[in-house]
Amino acid sequence: MADEEYPGARAYVPANADLDQLRAAVQKCRGCPLHAGTTQAVFGAGPATARLVFVGEQPGDQEDRRGLPFVGPAGILLNRALNDAGIDREQTYVTNAVKHFKFTQEGVGKRRIHQTPEQREVVACRPWLATELRLIDPDVIVALGATAGRSLMGNDFRVTRSRGIAIAWPPPGMAPADRRSILLVPTVHPSAVLRATDRDDAYAGLVADLEVAARALAGEQAGRSGSGQA
Ligand code: URA
Ligand code: SF4
Repeated sequence: MADEEYPGARAYVPANADLDQLRAAVQKCRGCPLHAGTTQAVFGAGPATARLVFVGEQPGDQEDRRGLPFVGPAGILLNRALNDAGIDREQTYVTNAVKHFKFTQEGVGKRRIHQTPEQREVVACRPWLATELRLIDPDVIVALGATAGRSLMGNDFRVTRSRGIAIAWPPPGMAPADRRSILLVPTVHPSAVLRATDRDDAYAGLVADLEVAARALAGEQAGRSGSGQA
């Protein structure tokens, strides 16, 4: 059953565009109903030369207002964790699986409450993420949480089972055969750390997973330059 409300983003992604052109084009996307009621689409941010890419879920309230990914409470926690893991955010590219904020609101002027995007929304939006990843062609991707993990690895993916290990991406069957294989490190979403009963423990787990990503990146780079062991 083709759903007219969910045509997907593909027709809105311009061919041969660079990241800045994609960032402009995403504002006109009507690939799913999530654009309604938002301030703007929030595209990824960071250098096109980044070797490490972070994929979150979707923009939150602050991201929707400011037009940048991970600038609200989850972003502040992520910045602290990156710092503790020895990763410089300025050198990374940060984006989301879904580019528009999904929320509920009880009335005008009321607080907008985050809603988890459905799989059909994640699938509808995936052409944007796929295009970002194809252009940047990083060495390592970090999936922050279940939504990012499912967008990148398929619907059966479980963060709890795979977090903190570097796995081959894309998985078989999810990308063209000529796509070079890189490393994906899944971890929890920073918002899950903020909600955890034992926050210190959850935070330490996030930092440990980010350290795995930092080591994977160092290994990939050593392997490519032909020095050191991968
Ligand atoms: N949560 C996300 O997944 N992404 C953001 O950009 C902000 C909060
Ligand atoms: Fe397009 Fe993604 Fe926004 Fe849906 S969420 S309208 S697919 S950019």
